[in-house]
Amino acid sequence: MPRSLDPQVRRALTERIRFYNELGIYDFYRRPANDSPAEVAPEPQPEQREEMPLRSKAAVVVVEEDLFAVPKPEAAVPDPAKALRIIREDLGDCTRCRLHKQGRKQIVFGVGNPRAELMFIGEAPGADEDQQGEPFVGRAGQLLNNMIKAMGLQREDVYIANIIKCRPPGNRTPERDECDTCSPFLMRQIAAIQPKAIVALGAVAAKTLLAINAPMAEFRGHWYDFRGTKLAVTYHPAFLLRDPRQKKETWKDLQMVMRELGLPVPAKGVE
Ligand code: URA
Repeated sequence: MPRSLDPQVRRALTERIRFYNELGIYDFYRRPANDSPAEVAPEPQPEQREEMPLRSKAAVVVVEEDLFAVPKPEAAVPDPAKALRIIREDLGDCTRCRLHKQGRKQIVFGVGNPRAELMFIGEAPGADEDQQGEPFVGRAGQLLNNMIKAMGLQREDVYIANIIKCRPPGNRTPERDECDTCSPFLMRQIAAIQPKAIVALGAVAAKTLLAINAPMAEFRGHWYDFRGTKLAVTYHPAFLLRDPRQKKETWKDLQMVMRELGLPVPAKGVE
């Protein structure tokens, strides 16, 4: 049953939610309400109140009041191209994580068909992508283009994005907090595009999207449910440049995706 909320807690929560909205985060994980007295957090002392609201029972009560249901700016926009423009505007000249002051030239938002049935998600822009403002335009991008062509598609048919939108210095692996800060915008891009399938390229994309820490050998070869969308994992094209023998395995992954999308599967694989 909905209960009224301590006004101080309500104000603190509203501010916290607004703070997250400004970061581009609109989706919150919700713990189920549990009325068992043993589970109820002790009443905070007045001086603790500003610190505690998200952990207190009041936070559960707020779910019933639907304080968290702040619509995303693009929520009521049926045209995915327009929705993507709104998300890009919301991202702005992002300074939400340290990468904005570590040498990135520009934000690499994503490219392709806003109504794509297939989305590829890589790790992070490299030097070429940072220079050109588009994902996968360097050597790894050429190989990704070949993978897309081998599937009987054009680059323009699909949508390509990365877990993070700014180049990490020296192409280092993105830090966890950088992924956490940036990926809510990717989630919104996925929600706007509503692809039939997503292909995560490499371990960083797979681990971030699926929140599972597993080796590539375990990730590959199955479908995952990613928020209602089918997701498959394959090798990152940069890895294939270093170990071209794995192209054969990659082709198996792509064939699995083609079958799911109802695309004809030619015998010839990735060159
Ligand atoms: N590697 C990635 O993961 N993404 C790019 O955009 C380019 C290289």
